[in-house]
Amino acid sequence: MRQLFLPMRIWDLPTRLFHWVLVALVLTSWISAKLNVMPLHVLSGLSIMTLLIFRLIWGIIGSDTARFTHFLKSPAAAIRHLLALTRREPDTEVGHNAAGGWMVLGLLGILSVQVGSGLCANDDVMTEGPLALIVGKDLSDWLTHIHHLNFVLIEIAVVLHVLAIVTYRVLKGHNLLLPMITGRKRLPGATAAPRMMHPMLGLAVFVLSAAVVVLFVRSVS
Ligand code: HEM
Ligand code: HEM
Repeated sequence: MRQLFLPMRIWDLPTRLFHWVLVALVLTSWISAKLNVMPLHVLSGLSIMTLLIFRLIWGIIGSDTARFTHFLKSPAAAIRHLLALTRREPDTEVGHNAAGGWMVLGLLGILSVQVGSGLCANDDVMTEGPLALIVGKDLSDWLTHIHHLNFVLIEIAVVLHVLAIVTYRVLKGHNLLLPMITGRKRLPGATAAPRMMHPMLGLAVFVLSAAVVVLFVRSVS
């Protein structure tokens, strides 16, 4: 008998907004650095810092599918998942799959290193991250080097990330992109719906995260 698939909300609005604004800001950070528009670069970097703080808190108190405890599975589960990559089967995943969870952690981790090193970086001309003077010139120069190197890691990770989405489409016939846009996905009728938090809680967490960044920058400059 064919299983009945029904639309279900799996990604809340805050998580989807987080994702697409993050994509826009990473592009802005990259282009502004290349064009040497440094005030915009620092602003967009601090905005990414706000998003990362937001995502950390949302990963603890947000909707089920956004929570770290929901999507971080054992490395063995991730490997088992990857070994079945070529198997065409219906998509029954509520949120990130076991391998995707590690990808999310990796992306958030390298973006945090980029922000952390950027805060201490300098360009030897006019621009200094808000912590550059505090850490001293030698450490700031070294962290500027890390800032450059880590961006190469980000480029590689983003290419792999997009390739993974395409691979799921081609090999398994799973469309991961549409749910990240609409929030909805067709799942077997018997699937338990994940608990969704109110978007206003997301807004409150975002305002708190922005306040933390503003207070941080004010307190060090
Ligand atoms: C700068 C580029 C990008 C970065 C830094 C990035 C980062 C991320 C992060 C951190 C997540 C986890 C979302 C969460 O749980 O909060 C994610 C998920 C996702 N991203 Fe991206 N992303 C980028 C570009 C893209 C692009 C261009 C696409 C479209 C093809 C895309 C499609 C997706 C999808 C479909 C998911 C959900 C995957 C799943 O179902 O497990 N991303 N991305
Ligand atoms: C608070 C956050 C950030 C601050 C204060 C900051 C600061 C800086 C500074 C001072 C430089 C110049 C270094 C030099 O001339 O050698 C730089 C370069 C660069 N930053 Fe950032 N940054 C931040 C976040 C980011 C983020 C989030 C990204 C990307 C996701 C990024 C990507 C880059 C790149 C690619 C360069 C090198 C551009 C080039 O010369 O080729 N930065 N950043």
